[in-house]
Amino acid sequence: MSTVVQRIDNRRGESDCELLLPVGPDYSDSRNNGKLLDLESSDEYVANVNVHVENRIEPPHLHGLPDVIFEPNTATLDNSMTSSPAGHSRQETENEPLLQPVRSRSRNSSSLEDFNTFSDDPDFTAIIREAEQAIIHGIYPERISQGSSGSYFVKSYTGKVIGVFKPKSEEPYGQLNPKWTKWMQKTCFPCCFGRGCLLPNQGYLSEAGAYLVDKKFGLNVVPKTRVVKLASETFNYSPIDRAKAKTKKFTLEKFEAIGRRFNRIGLPPKVGSFQLFVSGFKDADFWLRRFEGEDLPESTSKEFQLQFERLVVLDYIIRNTDRGNDNWLIKYEKTTMVENQQQNLDESGEDWGMVTSPVTHVAAIDNGLAFPFKHPDEWRTYPYHWAWLPQAKQKFSKETIDHVLPKISDMNFMEELCTELYSLFGEDKGFDKHMYEKQMAVMRGQVLNLGQAMRDNKAPVQLVQMPLITVEKNKQDGSTGPGRIRHHSDSFTQSFHQKMPFFSCC
Ligand SMILES: Nc1ncnc2c1ncn2[C@@H]1O[C@H](COP(=O)(O)OP(=O)(O)OP(=O)(O)O)[C@@H](O)[C@H]1O
Ligand SMILES: [Mg+2]
Repeated sequence: MSTVVQRIDNRRGESDCELLLPVGPDYSDSRNNGKLLDLESSDEYVANVNVHVENRIEPPHLHGLPDVIFEPNTATLDNSMTSSPAGHSRQETENEPLLQPVRSRSRNSSSLEDFNTFSDDPDFTAIIREAEQAIIHGIYPERISQGSSGSYFVKSYTGKVIGVFKPKSEEPYGQLNPKWTKWMQKTCFPCCFGRGCLLPNQGYLSEAGAYLVDKKFGLNVVPKTRVVKLASETFNYSPIDRAKAKTKKFTLEKFEAIGRRFNRIGLPPKVGSFQLFVSGFKDADFWLRRFEGEDLPESTSKEFQLQFERLVVLDYIIRNTDRGNDNWLIKYEKTTMVENQQQNLDESGEDWGMVTSPVTHVAAIDNGLAFPFKHPDEWRTYPYHWAWLPQAKQKFSKETIDHVLPKISDMNFMEELCTELYSLFGEDKGFDKHMYEKQMAVMRGQVLNLGQAMRDNKAPVQLVQMPLITVEKNKQDGSTGPGRIRHHSDSFTQSFHQKMPFFSCC
């Protein structure tokens, strides 16, 4: 176990002290009674936290230190990057992070098959192939009538729904959003449109990013979601795109030699998120009302509580701004009799069977409005709606803490996560590294709060009331870049967020 020395300066560098502190410093204490820092009357306090690794062995209970795991003797490689992660010259080969990008493909890859091939996940690749085959045979994705964006139920060749596709170009900010209500809002009330804390038109990356976070933490609440490209008659295309596709088809039919020269026949594929469809689930709202009326058996209730906490962890880390109770699903499988259990025969020979408790499953869908680049500070707070549920009043369970806390206390783990998100977000044409850094600063701040809440045995409802923080990675020698290897001199600037939204509403 390594200990961490955090060097804390105030913004003007007037005080300069070194303290032995847990990685998640008790900022709330420092704010409230000035134990760690005198905050004076400034609105915003900024502490420069230079993290050094010492080889000293300290049992955690002695100083109440968290489980911070560092990889000793990791070389101080320069992990500076000069460009975005997909397509992208790097100055030196040593700069390559050890962790491979989530997916090795170029976002400029012209081959649709390459783009939709996931070498690390043949099962998912097979599902996408199934969807492509279905479309070729006229089983088209069907637009989901509800919702603010163009989202589609994608079907298999047999007509079974296998996924939900959300194309980038049909998001609320997308040029081809098919919903007239959104168009009206965007045109007539541009000032009230969208969420000021989110990067516009990046919902599909947020969907895939939520799955990435879920997988990294082993939360198992987000159905598998990855970025794919699909084309279908039923998607919303501009008249020009449709005319071009028609002309090419006509040319190929009438003048085959010329038509063969076209790179692609048909409508242009759209990039978007593809989430596996989960069957047997209903909106959380539906089941939560039922659970209110009738008590769940203890084991079912415990299991549901654990899944609920994982949803909380996910939403808090990614700072989901759209977690209404219609944006997560619950599956409730009723009690079943286990048959042929000889041991259940009573003296009279009657079979009482074995009654198993109902089982619940949680699915966090619709994660497209997460990963803000700043904490909400405008009109709306975008609360987590689960915070009003009775489950949110219970302290985080030991199981959840044991599962999550070691991970979020490990700075290497967190920087790995940032690197993976960098690879994912970098696939977007409009990728902006500066904005990505801001998104990560919010996420690190959320993680800091979550760790503190878990160490303090808080409940989710208390977690959401904690002061908001951002933790920015400081530039090193004029450049920063996510990389698995942490510099011993990596430093982070932690800022408390004081600007509160004007009022709270959903
Ligand atoms: N992975 C999934 N598995 C099963 N059903 C799903 C899945 N994703 C979405 N749905 C169903 O489709 C409905 C709409 O999905 P979703 O909320 O993600 O779309 P949306 O267009 O983003 O809507 P909105 O913007 O209004 O929230 C959900 O309420 C749910 O019933
Ligand atoms: Mg929704």
